[in-house]
Amino acid sequence: MSARNRIPQHVAIIMDGNGRWAERHGLDRNEGHVRGVEPIRTVVRTAVRHGIGCLTLYAFSTENWGRPAAEVGALMELFCRCAASEMPELRDQGVRVRIIGDRSRFSAEVRENLEALERDTTRGARLTLVLALDYSSRAELVGAARRLAREAAAGRLDPETIDERRFADALWTAGLPDPDLVIRTSGEQRLSNFLLWQASYAELCFTEVLWPDFTEADFEHALDEYARRDRRFGRVGTPEECERRDEEK
Ligand code: IPE
Ligand code: IPE
Ligand code: MG
Repeated sequence: MSARNRIPQHVAIIMDGNGRWAERHGLDRNEGHVRGVEPIRTVVRTAVRHGIGCLTLYAFSTENWGRPAAEVGALMELFCRCAASEMPELRDQGVRVRIIGDRSRFSAEVRENLEALERDTTRGARLTLVLALDYSSRAELVGAARRLAREAAAGRLDPETIDERRFADALWTAGLPDPDLVIRTSGEQRLSNFLLWQASYAELCFTEVLWPDFTEADFEHALDEYARRDRRFGRVGTPEECERRDEEK
C-alpha cells in the first residue's frame, strides 16, 4: 500500500506557536495570531483535496481565558472577523463547520458570528471542519457525566445501558469519528486538555514548526508519517490476521 493510500478519516491539530513566532519576528503576539489564519486556509484546502472527512482545529482552550485581556480581546475580534470573511470560501469548498466547546462565555457578537458560520455551512458535504473554541476536554467529560446522571436520576436512563457508545454520544463530538491523527506544532509534546477521550488511539505527530510557518508540505509530511505507522490497537499481527481471528471467535 503506498503512503498516500492510507488517508486518516479525522485529523485534529493543536495549532501552537503563534506567540513565539511573533516574538522571533519582533512583533506583537497578536500579529502571530493574525499570521496563523493563512495556515488554517492551507490545511482546510489540503484536507478537502485528500478526501479527509473531518478536520478538528484547536483554536482556543478554556485555559486560554487566563491570558492577558488584550490578547483574549484580539483573539475574539479575530474569530469574529474570520467567521464572516471565510464563509464564502468554505461554502465553495463544500466545508461544513461545527463548533465544540462551552461557548457560553463568548460575547453575543462572537457567538452570533460563529453560529452563523455553522448555520450557513450546513450543506457542506466534503469536509466537516470542527473548531474547538473555549474547549476543555475535562469540562466536556464532566458535562457528559452530568447529563447522563441527570437522565438516570429522572428515570429516563438505565445506568446499566451506559456503554462507550452511549457515553461518546453525550460528548460535544457526538456523531464524529475519533481522530486518527493528532498533530501539534511548535515542539511542545502534550495534549493540553484536547480530545482526551476521543484521541485514545490516535497517532500523535509533533513538529517543531511554529503554526504560522506550517505549510502544505508540513501537513503532507504528517500524513505520510501517519500512513507509515503501524496501528495495532492492542493486538498482534496484520489487520487481516486480526480480522480472521475475530471471525474465528
Ligand atoms: C496558539 O499559539 C494559539 C492559541 C493558543 C490561541 P500560542 O499563542 O499558544 O503561541 P505560543 O505557544 O505562546 O508560542
Ligand atoms: C493549546 O495551546 C491550545 C491551543 C492551541 C488553542 P496552549 O499554548 O494554550 O497550551 P500550553 O499552555 O502550551 O499547554
Ligand atoms: Mg502555546
